Amino acid sequence: MIVIMGVSGCGKTTIGKALAKQLGLPFFDADDFHPQSNIDKMKQGTPLTDHDRMPWLSLLADHIKTWDEHGGAVLACSALKESYRNILASQSKNMTWIYLKGSFELIQSRLEQRELHYMKSGLLQSQFDALEEPDYGIHITIENHPEQILSTLISKLNRMRKSEFGVIGLGVMGKSLSLNIAEKGIRVSVYNRSEGDEAQVVPEFLENNRSFKTLSGFSNLQEFVESLEQPRKILMMVKAGSVIDSVIAQVVPFLSKEDILIDGGNSHFTDTQNRFQSLKKQQIHFIGCGISGGEAGARTGPSLMPGGTVESYNSVAPILEAIAAKDTNGQPCCAYIGNDGSGHFVKMIHNGMEYAEMQLLAEVYALMSQTMDHEAIAKVFSSWNKGDLSSYVLDITIDILRKKEEDHYLLDKILDKAEQKGTGSWSSKTALDLGVPTTMMTSAVFARYISAFKATREQLSKHIQVKKNTITPLDVNTLEKAYRFARIVNHHQGFEVMNEASKTYHWNLNLSEIARIWTNGCIIRSQLMQDCISFLNKNKDLLSHKAVFENLQHSEFATAEILQLAISNRVPLDTFWAAYTYWISMTTKRLPANVIQAQRDYFGAHTYQRLDRPLTEYFHTKWNAS
Ligand code: 6PG
Repeated sequence: MIVIMGVSGCGKTTIGKALAKQLGLPFFDADDFHPQSNIDKMKQGTPLTDHDRMPWLSLLADHIKTWDEHGGAVLACSALKESYRNILASQSKNMTWIYLKGSFELIQSRLEQRELHYMKSGLLQSQFDALEEPDYGIHITIENHPEQILSTLISKLNRMRKSEFGVIGLGVMGKSLSLNIAEKGIRVSVYNRSEGDEAQVVPEFLENNRSFKTLSGFSNLQEFVESLEQPRKILMMVKAGSVIDSVIAQVVPFLSKEDILIDGGNSHFTDTQNRFQSLKKQQIHFIGCGISGGEAGARTGPSLMPGGTVESYNSVAPILEAIAAKDTNGQPCCAYIGNDGSGHFVKMIHNGMEYAEMQLLAEVYALMSQTMDHEAIAKVFSSWNKGDLSSYVLDITIDILRKKEEDHYLLDKILDKAEQKGTGSWSSKTALDLGVPTTMMTSAVFARYISAFKATREQLSKHIQVKKNTITPLDVNTLEKAYRFARIVNHHQGFEVMNEASKTYHWNLNLSEIARIWTNGCIIRSQLMQDCISFLNKNKDLLSHKAVFENLQHSEFATAEILQLAISNRVPLDTFWAAYTYWISMTTKRLPANVIQAQRDYFGAHTYQRLDRPLTEYFHTKWNAS
């Protein structure tokens, strides 16, 4: 409840209406609640007595109670005396006073310009005589233009009102997410440390974003925490790893029970599980939230993958869902993933799939660039990008292919050593632990590793005579089929590892819903991901879907052709190979694993099962006995 007070003519109504509009609150003018007897008296130029004002003040207090209960309001009321203000405040739990302060001369000149108001300027002196200035609330001088007064008022109010959400860490992602949140009208406090060269981070961020009225900045962690409504909701956007632990250690002493800490970085899901458990002991909720979409996504709508307790998710859902990207039905690309580390697990697998999606396009480029220039490749990619193969990664690769610096393609000048921050290799290691063959993301990780051996590659390549296959031309339609084939296998493997993790960790993951929140905002958004929503809704995995299976079946030969062409041109297609051999193995009834079992039993007596005996029985043979 906000009451704007001051003598008649100070601008209470003008400022009050504008403020109410800005805050989305109803506006009321206390003058409209005067009994007729008071109005008549004022019209005659007779000052009101305390006795006259009492019924009016009690009526207003009753209204204030109701307005307060219905989400608040802005009231313009002279409220000149402390005793009047006490009556008005008696029914409100949360009242903010704004005192519009001006000199007698200024207000008198303004009143004289008014025509239709029943308050005669001659009564002004009696108002000034009655006025007891409050020593609390927001005091604003009225010399400035109403717009300036309003702007000052809003900033002061924002500092007084607790923020609904907090962000720790003003790196690229933290800044973009904070602006995204503030843009939705959510009051957000941001914190960044001010040591060393970070001294100006917060002041500069606030200065550069003055138009965001709900943004408050802090360089003092305790003040930042105290600026937040309880239960507090704090998003940490700091480097994954030990930095997260040190930020948690710094902030926890200022938190209260039931507050919620969110880690929005690419943390390893087992770290998130440990942090979740240890904070639970202190009755602090911990949400590990995968965030995808890079800087642009964070600013305009990322895909969000929050994991933790359902209660903590429900508490932050209105904010997370407001800032998330929207799917084709306008639903937020944010959904509750599951308990403890599930959100970060799902984000980790997203990145593993991202590695394979990127590597596949790099391999396609490698093969095409044997005979085609950048523009020709970009044209083919553009045609693919119009149909079922369309994706964000394909989209950006078209731009990348066409980017020139002066007359030269930039891509040709970029060193061929791929870097990584670790999520691809974490996905692969985790899949190995879970027993799921995610061969594509793993080969994509290894392809990055091999690329890093630049000096060795350069040295060894001197001894190789490259023979190009000039007989078989590259058929773009065949390549398109192979690319479609490999992408489906990558998506199948990615969802399979999530399926297995869901069982192992009891997360009850909804794979179709995960596909849905990956249809926009994130790096691997694509038409195929859109299709996966319904594929996974009806089937437990992609290969069980008849149409998907048939698609792979029909493009197997095309993939083999592409691999043959790659062999004869000495082009490494690690990820295509992984897709192809996975498919062949998965659809082969009898694999040579019988040999492996026999070898194991030979040297280690590890036993084997037999096709001609029940599978519950295990056998050992003395292989070298005569
Ligand atoms: C995303 C991305 C992002 C990732 C980068 C770099 O979803 O927005 O996955 O989280 O950090 O793509 O990853 P690498 O450095 O490991 O390639």
